[in-house]
Amino acid sequence: MTDAASKDPVPFSKPSYDERELEAVRRALAVQSTGDGPAGRRVEARLSALLGAPRVLLTTSGTHALELALLALGIGPGQEVVCPSFTFVSCANAILRVGARPVFADIEERTLGLDPQDVERRLTPRTVGLLPVDYAGVAPDMAALVEIAGARRLRVLEDAAQGIAASWRGRALGTLGDAGCLSFHETKNVSCGEGGALVVHDHELALRAEIAREKGTNRSAFLRGQVDKYTWVSQGSSYVLSDVLAAILEAQLDKLEAIQARRAEVVARYREGLAGWAAARGVRMAQPLPERVANHHIFYLLYPDGRLRDAALAALRGKGVMATFHYVPLHSSPFGRTLGEQAALPVTDRIASTLLRLPLHARLSERDVERVIEAVRETGA
Ligand SMILES: Cc1ncc(COP(=O)(O)O)c(C=O)c1O
Repeated sequence: MTDAASKDPVPFSKPSYDERELEAVRRALAVQSTGDGPAGRRVEARLSALLGAPRVLLTTSGTHALELALLALGIGPGQEVVCPSFTFVSCANAILRVGARPVFADIEERTLGLDPQDVERRLTPRTVGLLPVDYAGVAPDMAALVEIAGARRLRVLEDAAQGIAASWRGRALGTLGDAGCLSFHETKNVSCGEGGALVVHDHELALRAEIAREKGTNRSAFLRGQVDKYTWVSQGSSYVLSDVLAAILEAQLDKLEAIQARRAEVVARYREGLAGWAAARGVRMAQPLPERVANHHIFYLLYPDGRLRDAALAALRGKGVMATFHYVPLHSSPFGRTLGEQAALPVTDRIASTLLRLPLHARLSERDVERVIEAVRETGA
């Protein structure tokens, strides 16, 4: 066993919880409010200010925020939504859950987000929406995507699950479409275990989402004293985030700056420590892009081919560095293949087979970071 392998593994991701989250939970329990409560409302107001969006609704997960958005947008059976195949499974699941059909388009090399030209090729008379993903907290070519949507009156649902604290042309991710979704899953920069948020600009859309979030009832209006009893007014489900989890999120938002600063330091050190090695071996590293403020959610390496990537992944894990891949493309997954004929997605296939993610979180120590760099350099791509 090498020296590196004898040490504790460097975890791929780890939430930044401490006494402050514990105290927040204690306070939430002390006011005996564990459902839709005061912490949730404070966090919604805070996110609304942070993002510059009129309305934010906390949800039980990012997946549920996507589902809720599609319900509120009125997307359903017989309709199609174009989304990437290079994404988390929730995008396609949410579209299927409302009875619509996900149609996969390819991604572009630069942003690893939807390629507008390929999106154009996937449009049919049944297309009603686009679901672009901000992969790694980086917006795709939103100007082109919004133009395509505008020309055909398509709705844009932005998956900003990975996008907190990142922006495009000065606008926060999550606010770039008709609706946006954030995730506070334990792997995200800011987390409460499981949680999410729906971001909307339009008042009517917010009201529809509020109803769908409360099992299809007007309970939210009732709690505001706007109706004297609440009742079933449309389709919905149970998407309200527990106030105990909202309290954790509140404590996390207090730390947002510190979390982001540490992640930025780690990424800067990865870039510095690996630049020469990557250039010599034809490995591409995640790079800053114009018009975009990054949130350092993911640091990836793109190896020259899949064999080298797989070998590097195994070697790193052998040294206790918990690197990982991203993603099994949805169109080639066992369930994705049952969805009917899908177009070829060559960029998606290549990126998915060559991408390797390094551990990245605010609790990485200097030693961890140096250990990761050293282990990557030893993979000798
Ligand atoms: C791109 C993307 N979309 C959706 C989700 C779903 O979010 P959640 O895990 O909060 O349901 C995630 C989270 O992993 C994600 O990365």
